[in-house]
Amino acid sequence: MRNLIIAIDGPAGAGKSTISRLISKKLGINYIDTGAMYRALTLKCISEGVDISQTDKVIELCKNVEIDFIDNSIYLDGENVDNKIRSSEINLNVSNVAKIKEVREMMVKKQREIGMRSDVILDGRDVGTHIFPNTKFKFFLNASPEERGRRRYEEIKDKEKNITLKEIISGIKRRDDIDSSREVSPLVKAGDAHEIDSTNMSIEEVVDYIVNEVKINSKIGD
Ligand code: CDP
Repeated sequence: MRNLIIAIDGPAGAGKSTISRLISKKLGINYIDTGAMYRALTLKCISEGVDISQTDKVIELCKNVEIDFIDNSIYLDGENVDNKIRSSEINLNVSNVAKIKEVREMMVKKQREIGMRSDVILDGRDVGTHIFPNTKFKFFLNASPEERGRRRYEEIKDKEKNITLKEIISGIKRRDDIDSSREVSPLVKAGDAHEIDSTNMSIEEVVDYIVNEVKINSKIGD
């Protein structure tokens, strides 16, 4: 029997990673944060001094980098970088790394390999449209840009004291524009994905909704 694959896509700050992590715990399955992989490569570019507009250099780095998940944490060349990849510098640059076709091909290959190994929930931009288009569990998580900005601000304000809510909202909108307009697997809702507008929903409500949908339509929990 095929393994269970749950795809959670949506724009920046919609709550995908918080929700996916909780669902992975509830269902006892693995969690793959596909965005964390693009973030880790962006971190590598910055720490190696590679200019992101030099596409060839970014591709070369991508070929030689080691990115792995261990216990739902992300490792870059053997180092746990869960915290380092969540800075506003990475936020600012990641979409320009993620729009490079060759980078995407390498990442998607790896995401498919990991996803085939066990029951898994993946979150990102192209999970339901491109990485695993045949899974029957696809959700597109959305919320208003203001609410998404507010959530991201709450997450980052203690670490980066100078950042304002306004800057975060405009950064989120800019990233959504790049992600939605790029040529290779842009951010778009899969035709068969359930859309969830979480603007006025709590985290628990979203988690329960998705878990119920999955349980009703699979053998889990029988
Ligand atoms: O957490 P947040 O929604 O802000 O972002 P993320 O999921 O960590 O993704 C960071 C960036 O990686 C996105 O803005 C996209 O540019 C890119 N990404 C992508 O292109 N494809 C994916 N499957 C996941 C992320």
